[in-house]
Amino acid sequence: MEVAMKNTQNILSKIATNDGHGENSPYFDGWKAYDSNPFHSQHNPTGVIQMGLAENMLCFDLIEEWIQANPAASICTQQGAADFRETAIFQDYHGLPEFRAAIANFMSQVRGNRVAFDPDRIVMSGGATGAHETLAFCLADPGEAFLVPTPYYPGFDRDLRWRTGVKLVPVVCESSNNFKITMEALETAYENAKLANIKVKGLLITNPSNPLGTFLDRETLKNLVTFITEKNIHLISDEIYAGTVTTGDEFVSIAEIIKEEPKCNLDLIHIVYSLSKDMGFPGFRVGIVYSYNNTVVNIARKMSSFGLVSTQTQHMLGSMLSDNKFVDNFISESRTRLAHRHDMFTRGLAQVGIGSLESNAGLFFWMDLRRFLKEPTFESEMTFWRTIIYDIKLNVSPGSSFHCSEPGWFRVCFANMDDETTMTALRRIKRFVLKNKMLEIKTMRQCWQNNQHLRLSSRRLDEMLTPHRMSPHSPLASPLVRAHN
Ligand SMILES: Cc1ncc(COP(=O)(O)O)c(C=O)c1O
Repeated sequence: MEVAMKNTQNILSKIATNDGHGENSPYFDGWKAYDSNPFHSQHNPTGVIQMGLAENMLCFDLIEEWIQANPAASICTQQGAADFRETAIFQDYHGLPEFRAAIANFMSQVRGNRVAFDPDRIVMSGGATGAHETLAFCLADPGEAFLVPTPYYPGFDRDLRWRTGVKLVPVVCESSNNFKITMEALETAYENAKLANIKVKGLLITNPSNPLGTFLDRETLKNLVTFITEKNIHLISDEIYAGTVTTGDEFVSIAEIIKEEPKCNLDLIHIVYSLSKDMGFPGFRVGIVYSYNNTVVNIARKMSSFGLVSTQTQHMLGSMLSDNKFVDNFISESRTRLAHRHDMFTRGLAQVGIGSLESNAGLFFWMDLRRFLKEPTFESEMTFWRTIIYDIKLNVSPGSSFHCSEPGWFRVCFANMDDETTMTALRRIKRFVLKNKMLEIKTMRQCWQNNQHLRLSSRRLDEMLTPHRMSPHSPLASPLVRAHN
């Protein structure tokens, strides 16, 4: 196999044969472990539960209802067949006007109608994946770089770097301030790139964040705009989780901030959006580049020929997303269901002393398992991750695959399963934690017995088994953890 690969390398391009896709990272390993032994409540109840996929399947019933009530929108129906010919031959890379209008309308509704989007700036691409690559091609040359706050979505290494030759420079964010992006961290990353002779062309933020499930406050966003304005570099804001914000403060889009900042150079501001998360349609491959820079809109549109959204999909979604009543109800119901599932999970884990970063957005949360690592190293994180996959049989994603600077954090996706599977996953984690505690107790007991002068009293044993027991190392004592039990 290796010899064959070497021979192939000689006759293929460097891009084709390099490792830029990232398929060999642990992020994809988890998927492979799941694929070889997938959980099914009846057919394979001891299989691996997939919690590594940021998919939103909680509101599919609402979509199915709409599809049934609007058969003309799908052209492969009796009611829609009249539109078949027009749809089959349409191939203009500007996209259907009604599709672009519906997307602009949806983007606005998701942001509480606080900001409007111009349909003429909507450029299609094959998911946000394609949108990121298109922007990278438009904004940077090979060898130039974007700053990216950590931890960040592992796909960025593929999307922005692989075929473009562009680099990513991490902006290190830490748990000590809930992974907030500070000006110091930005300046350090910028200076480090300069020292390494790398030209920084932009800053890429994910707001709300994957994997943190948090979103940026107004002040931070304004600071970021000041930073990129001073450096004269681009700001790409990936807002594909904008519609997943549940409770608490309102999500603030970069589109709102630039209205409030008269000094902001709009030519530097770009938004990436997609229907993969807010609507739960990753299979439709609907990605959007929304740029405030006219030249970028023009070039990105030409490039979109490489990743157009099928006209049939445009036709159906144009119809669905211009139905304001449906969209309003969908967004609010989706938020309610996501909040419920998020709480169900994080509360269940808190009962056995497992904490997570406080969050209210995304399709996941950032679980703190630092105290389970034998040592605070990434090797220990990988060892423990293997225990989670192969013993507890859950595919969660290790922090190292998100370039997290601290070992022991894991991303848990919660919206790609039903309630029953959620309960099974929770039961498995609880059983593991209790088993671990019993082992700890047994070891301590043996130590004490060996020392012959100490005995574990039954009261002490009870205390150790009480789930809410706090210790100086307990994540429950950390300000990062949700307060409720
Ligand atoms: C932050 C972020 N950007 C982009 C993507 C890619 O999305 P799409 O399916 O629209 O290509 C993902 C997918 O998980 C993501 O989390």
